[in-house]
Amino acid sequence: MKSELMLQPHFAEDRINENIYGHFAEHLGRCIYEGIWVGEDSTIPNTGGIRNDVVQALREIEIPVLRWPGGCFADEYHWKDGVGPRDERKRTVNTHWGEVIEPHQFGTHEFFKLCDLIGAKPYICGNVGSGTPREMADWIEYITFSGDSSLARQRRKNGREEPWELPYFGVGNENWGCGGEMRAEYYADLYRRYGTYVRQFGESDIYKIACGASGDDYHWTQVLMERAAARMDGLSLHYYTTPRDDWESKGAATGFSEKEWFTTLKATLFMEDLLKKHGTIMDRYDPKKRVGLIVDEWGAWYDVEPGTEPGFLYQQNTLRDALVAGINLNIFNNHADRVEMANIAQTVNVLQAPLLTREEELILTPTYHVFKLFTKHQGNRLVPLQLRTDNYNWGDEAIPALNASASVDEEGTVFLTLCNLAPEEETEVNVGFGGKDIGELSAEALTAGEMDAHNTFEEPERIKPVEFENMKVMESDLNISLPPKSVVVVEVA
Ligand code: AHR
Repeated sequence: MKSELMLQPHFAEDRINENIYGHFAEHLGRCIYEGIWVGEDSTIPNTGGIRNDVVQALREIEIPVLRWPGGCFADEYHWKDGVGPRDERKRTVNTHWGEVIEPHQFGTHEFFKLCDLIGAKPYICGNVGSGTPREMADWIEYITFSGDSSLARQRRKNGREEPWELPYFGVGNENWGCGGEMRAEYYADLYRRYGTYVRQFGESDIYKIACGASGDDYHWTQVLMERAAARMDGLSLHYYTTPRDDWESKGAATGFSEKEWFTTLKATLFMEDLLKKHGTIMDRYDPKKRVGLIVDEWGAWYDVEPGTEPGFLYQQNTLRDALVAGINLNIFNNHADRVEMANIAQTVNVLQAPLLTREEELILTPTYHVFKLFTKHQGNRLVPLQLRTDNYNWGDEAIPALNASASVDEEGTVFLTLCNLAPEEETEVNVGFGGKDIGELSAEALTAGEMDAHNTFEEPERIKPVEFENMKVMESDLNISLPPKSVVVVEVA
């Protein structure tokens, strides 16, 4: 396969918002409990109840922002159940996710502690579906008010003197579905109403995010923009990749055929269409692009791992997921003018998880490695690129074999991330740098022999990035031979 890539680093303008590398952690399955929270008395090493190994791993991928507590859970979450002495907290039913008991050991204080430990900005999603505007207003006051109100006193009594900074707040989640089965027109009014009570006390400056569309529901975006754009800072979008077009039988996370490799990657590339089309609607009402598109749930969703609780959404994570992550992150970078945040679903043990735990053990998945490899894009300026590539064909269908994005940092170092989607063939890429000299070069690659190569607790390093040297400088161009089914990161000083 052959590809031509022309980069124009001298014309880089749009900044890649670091928040594109955000995460999402819900009270779902073993994400919060076991995955993050083990409690202070656990034999698993922890800081105030939060697993040290998970904190350490998350710090290394420099998570900029973390969304919590849901997801569907958010619209049934009543924050007061999760504050105060832990042994007096309520026990409620997690109706969406396996009807397990939610012990509320991890609540507001624990979430802010986690954000502190991993160095991420907090993004809280509020309850519109079953909560009241007053409950939402109280939560904001409890978190951000510095004065002497009863709620601020309660916060102090619960151990936090100073208010926290709350940079991002979501007004409901999937209110077209699990968040209340609403029509766009009805939710637009509720957004305006609830959003009014997301007060900004003193210096606090909360970026308000309205619940956005599911996939290609363009009507939702149109209605929200028309009726509420002036009152929001961001509008969300949720899109999950599945190998099959059948929600009841999505396809397995491992042991899949090449057909499902192809359909999964094709479905992933659909993100590009979504961003263009939702973006075009947003442009109509907001030509200056003030309102950010917030892709606050994305990732691969497969059938659960056999033998696990269906409501826990636990799945393995393979080289295919590395491609899903790489392609999505490249697409978000390339739409940096509108996409201000994206949050992979979900951080630990749920869906396309960067981390998997089993009691005291922790493994890093191929998705984790992609986040680590892409970290340097955070905050850089997006390099405009032109790509011509051969297709990867399956039957009578075709998708581009190469997917890419590039950015440049303050020192002029160009950072290029490439995905070769073809599972059996190398892709030769000729990269032009638009007049920039090619200085020092370094690269890493993530690949393996099998499409479903993955790490296990028995073999935790089966797949991990390795140094990559298969490239040659040819006058002012760089020629790179990408291995089949790989994610490759090249740094050019
Ligand atoms: O991430 C799992 C679920 O997917 C979330 O709770 C919900 O918002 C979405 O449907």
